Amino acid sequence: MQNKNIVVTGGAGFLGSHLVHLLLNKGNKVTVLDDFSHGKELHLKEIADNPNLKVIKGDITNINNVKEAFEDRQIVFHLAVLDLRQSIKEPQRVNDVIVDGTLNCLNVARNNNVELFVNCSSSEVFGTAQYIPMDEKHPLLPETPYAASKVAQDMYTFSFGRTYGLPWTTVRPFNMYGPHSHWQGYRGELIPKMIVRAMNKQPLVIFGEGEQTRDFIYVEDAAKGILDVVNNNACRNKNINICTGKETTIRRIAEAICNEFSLDPNVYIQKQAPRPGDVMRHLGGNSYFKELTGYIPQTTLEEGISKTIAWFKSLPYTPEELLKQEVLRSWE
Ligand SMILES: NC(=O)c1ccc[n+]([C@@H]2O[C@H](COP(=O)([O-])OP(=O)(O)OC[C@H]3O[C@@H](n4cnc5c(N)ncnc54)[C@H](O)[C@@H]3O)[C@@H](O)[C@H]2O)c1
Repeated sequence: MQNKNIVVTGGAGFLGSHLVHLLLNKGNKVTVLDDFSHGKELHLKEIADNPNLKVIKGDITNINNVKEAFEDRQIVFHLAVLDLRQSIKEPQRVNDVIVDGTLNCLNVARNNNVELFVNCSSSEVFGTAQYIPMDEKHPLLPETPYAASKVAQDMYTFSFGRTYGLPWTTVRPFNMYGPHSHWQGYRGELIPKMIVRAMNKQPLVIFGEGEQTRDFIYVEDAAKGILDVVNNNACRNKNINICTGKETTIRRIAEAICNEFSLDPNVYIQKQAPRPGDVMRHLGGNSYFKELTGYIPQTTLEEGISKTIAWFKSLPYTPEELLKQEVLRSWE
């Protein structure tokens, strides 16, 4: 994908900002449409002066904002989202953004005859694994309002392909981690939260023995994988998992982080009672992704964690300030 006019919704967010960097590096012109509710200018700092970047502060639920951002754009990457935890507290608000916002994006993309609508879904649409690894044929069993909205987003995308001939590709990342990830309060994810705690010599909490597994993919690998998918015509009008196909236990994550900070895991990993209903295994099937693109995520867990720590150390906050934000109990 080179020399294209592209719009990225949610382009100031965690994954979006990495995609925008990659797209600009390949000589594309990129418009970011983000309301900065959770995205940060900081994530776009290094590319802020790039003449090929245009940032529009706007809301995907506002059709005029979408029309403005999508004007003259050939390809849409649709990533804007409110997250799972917010959906438990505010399901209607999250539905408005994910479902109504997506419908706005699809309508404008269709009216503009875009070449491709890249729909960013989530492995959350699969719910608890009915079998492992979860491939693209796994049933959609959304267990949270977020996941239900993401299923609606995917179905609307599919339907616009069938009804109006809009070319689309749906990518479904599994658990991403890396620089620009969220560590604050309820919004924070496991790896960044553990890093902030380790920076402050605070215990890293695991539930039970920490034998729960997830398919963690380094965010830059995910962004590169998404571009490989998009560059391949065989991936049109298909759903593709973006994952490593490898299971990692939460305990191993905690141990790797302790190791980076020379903390004794026997002292700093704190076991708490197992959580009822905790998903014990979560593993993506990436055979289809590999078959279509030949792509294999390159970053090892240790490298990825080390790069994430380096990013945290580069932030304009002290470890104590990061910790205060980590334990924040409000929604902001
Ligand atoms: N983070 C993960 O591990 C993960 C896993 C699977 C799938 N995904 C998917 O990846 C995509 C990006 O997620 P992320 O983790 O980068 O999230 P993020 O919260 O970091 O980024 C989302 C961006 O959307 C923006 N946004 C929110 N509401 C908006 C609105 N109404 N109008 C315009 N912009 C709005 C936010 O400000 C933010 O910058 C989403 O589609 C998500 O479902 C993420």
